[in-house]
Amino acid sequence: MIGNNLMSEQYDIADIDFDTLDKLELSRNGLTGFEMYYPRVSRNPEIKKIYDLIKKVAKSNASILIQGETGTGKELIAGTIQAQSLRADKPFITVNCAALHENLLESELFGHEKGAFTGAISTHNGKFEQADGGTLFLDEIGDMHPSTQAKILRVLQEQTFNRVGSSKTIRVDVRIIAATNKDLGKDIEEGRFRPDLYYRLNVVPMHVPALRERMEDIPMLAEYFRRKFCEELKKEIGGFTQEALELLEHHNWPGNIRELRNIVERAVLVVGDQRKITPEVLTMSGKDYFGSGGMERRGSERTGTNFKTLNLEAIEKEAIIVALQRTKWVQKLAADMLGISPRALNYKISQHNITYHSWRKHS
Ligand SMILES: Nc1ncnc2c1ncn2[C@@H]1O[C@H](COP(=O)(O)OP(=O)(O)OP(=O)(O)O)[C@@H](O)[C@H]1O
Ligand SMILES: [Mg+2]
Repeated sequence: MIGNNLMSEQYDIADIDFDTLDKLELSRNGLTGFEMYYPRVSRNPEIKKIYDLIKKVAKSNASILIQGETGTGKELIAGTIQAQSLRADKPFITVNCAALHENLLESELFGHEKGAFTGAISTHNGKFEQADGGTLFLDEIGDMHPSTQAKILRVLQEQTFNRVGSSKTIRVDVRIIAATNKDLGKDIEEGRFRPDLYYRLNVVPMHVPALRERMEDIPMLAEYFRRKFCEELKKEIGGFTQEALELLEHHNWPGNIRELRNIVERAVLVVGDQRKITPEVLTMSGKDYFGSGGMERRGSERTGTNFKTLNLEAIEKEAIIVALQRTKWVQKLAADMLGISPRALNYKISQHNITYHSWRKHS
């Protein structure tokens, strides 16, 4: 797995052979090798802890509750756990608890008898029955109605349930993995989530860190998506420019890995053949640039017209900062905008003592 230095010499990132990883396709839940092995190759200590935890608990039947912001990869982690469990060749059934109305969700989970309600024209096996022997992934569990929560709790305690409209007890052997992007602690406090169900589910808690908390993985993830979309879109393009990578490393990522994936997909689409991905083709929402680094990093967008002072030197400094912000701190582009040479800009930057956190690495 380790070997090829896949990224160009320019970037110091994990030494991972993506091609080998991607041959390890998992047929059951369709995860790619990279997706499967990401927790192992991640450089982030929290993800590494998750990887250790997966190794320890995958083979048990313990319920697992995966919490984390939207797009952090909770579903992938659930699939990874299943793939490493003793149930790997048994069904992995997903239910999105937020997608269905309470009544439909119950029939979806537990099945129903013919005639149990209007429209129940035939007997239907629920997800619990379909998952028998395997794993049931309850996604968006925080959105589940209290009455359904009570029924799930019963299955967890007794491994039995009834189809809707039937008094017959059905026994199943199902391992539960649940996920939510909500703060269940708050939902419990405010009476929306049953604490007893929470404790049952949360036998093994996993907290997936937001992407902004694992910036060290961004070059690797971005490169993975670049390769993936180049292959899908049958394009050959270069890697990322240093500026593009820096931009990715300083975005706030409210949509986490899903957002990164979409941005890289779009960049691969629009960038010319054999060209590199530059900041110009990365379309992140501007308001989040540098959003994770507090005031100094974030700065404040200045219009450049409402002068707070008429002191020329202060205005010059202001203009330079605005130009740098608008060009995502790429000095060459900012110099063009200011109508001066990059050298002159560089001189003025030090004269005005303007600093930007990621310049330090290179100076
Ligand atoms: N480690 C990873 N490697 C590759 N792709 C990933 C990784 N983690 C997440 N993704 C991709 O990011 C997207 C979001 O992942 P996933 O659906 O697992 O997130 P989630 O935490 O379940 O989000 P939500 O709370 O919105 O349901 C998917 O397209 C997934 O393939
Ligand atoms: Mg999900």
